[in-house]
Amino acid sequence: MAGRIAVAAAFLALAVVPAALAQAPGPAAAPSGPPNVTAILEKGGQYTTFIRLMKETQQDTQLNSQLNSSFGNNGGGYTVFAPTDNAFNNLKPGTLNSLTQQQQVSLVQGHVLSNFYSMDSFQTASNPVRTQASGRDGPYTLNITSDTNNQVNVSSGVVDVRINNALYSTKPLAVYSVDKVLLPLELFGAKAPAAAPTASEGKPKKGGSSDASSPAGSEDSEPTGAASARAIGWSVAGLAAVLGYLL
Ligand SMILES: *[C@@H]1O[C@H](CO)[C@@H](O)[C@H](O)[C@H]1NC(C)=O
Ligand SMILES: *[C@@H]1O[C@H](CO)[C@@H](O)[C@H](O)[C@H]1NC(C)=O
Ligand SMILES: *[C@@H]1O[C@H](CO)[C@@H](O)[C@H](O)[C@H]1NC(C)=O
Ligand SMILES: *[C@@H]1O[C@H](CO)[C@@H](O)[C@H](O)[C@H]1NC(C)=O
Repeated sequence: MAGRIAVAAAFLALAVVPAALAQAPGPAAAPSGPPNVTAILEKGGQYTTFIRLMKETQQDTQLNSQLNSSFGNNGGGYTVFAPTDNAFNNLKPGTLNSLTQQQQVSLVQGHVLSNFYSMDSFQTASNPVRTQASGRDGPYTLNITSDTNNQVNVSSGVVDVRINNALYSTKPLAVYSVDKVLLPLELFGAKAPAAAPTASEGKPKKGGSSDASSPAGSEDSEPTGAASARAIGWSVAGLAAVLGYLL
């Protein structure tokens, strides 16, 4: 009797666990839960540098948790301009490494708006639009302009680029691909300290990570909390994959 109950319980557990996993918010396309910006970018396939920067600056978990807490409450939402790997490759060599950790955080946050914009609603944006980055002189801003052909551009004051198709555009999150890194005026404008990356290359970073010779924000500078949270995420994904395979 007890044996049968145990067997039945085991079967029940097997039946219940995959059902629960199946309801977990899927990467890019689950209206039932908050969108996952990392998964959306991974699916896009050409944003590995931006994903790495987001991870190193913890802006992936930051934005995902903002998305989670705003999900379903009809708040403003978020818009992300995601530079392609090509965009990063086209930067002057050493550009990222010339930035301190805090400046890298600002660089990433300068690509995020605390508001959801569909392609159409960009026309109603009132310039300058605030990004999530801010410095001594207030928030970093972008100007968004559209021309008569319905082409929409975004300008950081240093870089002007056309906004390409959305990778994702369902409130509360829009993610647009851009072919250039939106170098903030505050970091790369004429008077900004980081204006000449080539000149500052090799110089120890002030206030940045202690090891100036390591590549910008290498994995070891990451707090273990974020790493283990990710590890849990991966193991859940792995378990789901194994169960999905077995059943
Ligand atoms: C998302 O928010 C809910 C509450 O709204 C909370 O219970 C849950 O832990 C959050 N999940 C993450 C991954 O932050
Ligand atoms: C946005 O446009 C205004 C007015 O043309 C200009 O003063 C400002 O510098 C621009 N800002 C950026 C970030 O391009
Ligand atoms: C938009 O940016 C492109 C470069 O990517 C430029 O050629 C074009 O003139 C810009 N258009 C506007 C309206 O700023
Ligand atoms: C978001 O997706 C990434 C990559 O697929 C995953 O590692 C992470 O755990 C996910 N985060 C949340 C909060 O679901």
